[in-house]
Amino acid sequence: MKTWLSILLTALMGFASAVPSQAQVKARNGMVVSTSGIASDVGVEVLKKGGNAVDAAVATAFALAVTHPAAGNIGGGGFLVCMKSDGAVTTIDFREKAPLKATRDMYLDEKGELIRNENHLSVRAIGVPGTVAGLYKAHQKYGRRPWATLVQPAIDLATLGFEMNWSLAGDAQYFVEQKSPFMSRYFLGETGKPTAPGEVWKQPALAGTLTAIRDRGHDGFYRGEVARKIAGFMQENNGLITEQDLARYEAMERPPVKGTYKDYEIYSMPPPSSGGVALVEMMNLMELADFKKLEFNSAAYVHFLAEAMRRAFADRAEFLGDPDFNPDMPLERLISKAHAKKRYAEIDMSKASVSDSTRFGQLYDGDSTTHFSVMDGEGNAVSLTYTLEYGYGSRMGSTELGFIFNNEMGDFNPIPGTTTSNGLIGTRPNLIEPEKRMLSSMTPTIVAKHGKPYLVIGSPGGRTIINTVFQTVLNVLEFDMEIDKAIEVMKIHHQWLPDRINYEKDLLSPDTGEILRSMGHAVVEQNSLGELMGIRLDAENDVMIGASDSSSSEGKASGY
Ligand code: GLY
Repeated sequence: MKTWLSILLTALMGFASAVPSQAQVKARNGMVVSTSGIASDVGVEVLKKGGNAVDAAVATAFALAVTHPAAGNIGGGGFLVCMKSDGAVTTIDFREKAPLKATRDMYLDEKGELIRNENHLSVRAIGVPGTVAGLYKAHQKYGRRPWATLVQPAIDLATLGFEMNWSLAGDAQYFVEQKSPFMSRYFLGETGKPTAPGEVWKQPALAGTLTAIRDRGHDGFYRGEVARKIAGFMQENNGLITEQDLARYEAMERPPVKGTYKDYEIYSMPPPSSGGVALVEMMNLMELADFKKLEFNSAAYVHFLAEAMRRAFADRAEFLGDPDFNPDMPLERLISKAHAKKRYAEIDMSKASVSDSTRFGQLYDGDSTTHFSVMDGEGNAVSLTYTLEYGYGSRMGSTELGFIFNNEMGDFNPIPGTTTSNGLIGTRPNLIEPEKRMLSSMTPTIVAKHGKPYLVIGSPGGRTIINTVFQTVLNVLEFDMEIDKAIEVMKIHHQWLPDRINYEKDLLSPDTGEILRSMGHAVVEQNSLGELMGIRLDAENDVMIGASDSSSSEGKASGY
């Protein structure tokens, strides 16, 4: 039940309260689709006031840092892909970096073995955050509205509070049970108890940090009092990040990875994310298939997709890392049509190939990332994915600053040279080096048709991101599915190693599963894959059609 205060706040602030995920939503003038209805509405308010898609993205990202703290953040990093109304596409890389004091063996004991959880859940797993730098850079280059007006809605949400939802309340309870030192206090209300569903949850310390960012932009986070407090926290807790690390952090503008699929152009994130390269590799392979003979989600279809995924992930493991440290990555070759032809020819449609465990492997990857998509009425579009790595990242933070630090260092290859069939990747391009960006799977993507945005899409989900975005793009471009259906239909995931197909529970028919097993695939169910947030532009009818994945309880396509 809503409290009188939350109703009043909602009315005062002009935000519609979060509603359960809906099917498709249509709008003509602008749209934001995110995992938090409140944050989507913040973005749409910016559009209504004359902001462009970049302005709306900046405001939505800051709002998500308040309303969706599992992944929305100022203590993490991510990627933004932007298509401007003139058809030009650019990207902003605000991936976290390894601190200057990081070394390639920093997570190994004296026997050369990985110290349990050290690269995932320790203060030394925290990378130098990039989010504030990235949002500021995007705004400085492509935004229009005053910076302060884009940060202010997040400050208001943190100061005045917003209605606690069931999902956050469940997380609060979990952290209390876990006796997590920082997180068990994170959701406390004024009574000193975790804020219950329907009560108003305020975050005054976070509001203070956001105020410094509002007033001083990039420097409000990376220099001065906030930076000193971050460095002080690290020093007290044996962390590595210093004021020097923060002062040296810069977001980078990079050209997108570009591919084509039939009449469409695909723009996505280049390294240090592996997402764009793998997506284009797989779409090139799909272009060679005759889908008239491949029934959607039949055993043959799932087999073909899994074989494409296996190959793209093998290339990912072998070649990809931070471009500033790997100038020799064969990106042009990997995304070429010729490479796809070679890969296509290797696929045996009657049986599974075998992932070579002596060469590459995979490890569990954090799946608490978040994606949102934006279109404005002028023809600009933004696809933005950012993350803390695990849900609530390192689960650490300074109570004075009120935000959570990432644990992104876990995305580096932790043991040089050691690659196992069920565990680790040890290939060179993604080994730890000071100031290197760790390889990501985030795949914020814009598909264009005749030089205009056609589909804006992305997802959280660790390495599954690449595959859920890939399948959603294919569903729209090849199977003409509307965006809501394309997001909801069964997805699968294969990542080279472990050598298995994961599928969404209850959505694969047992008969299909049996055929896949008889072809040599290991087939494993999991609750769901991805949490896609997408917009398709129906240019003929001048309508934006948006949908948020039903696996997001608070997600919303908001448009006007
Ligand atoms: N931390 C998940 C990713 O960057 O892919």
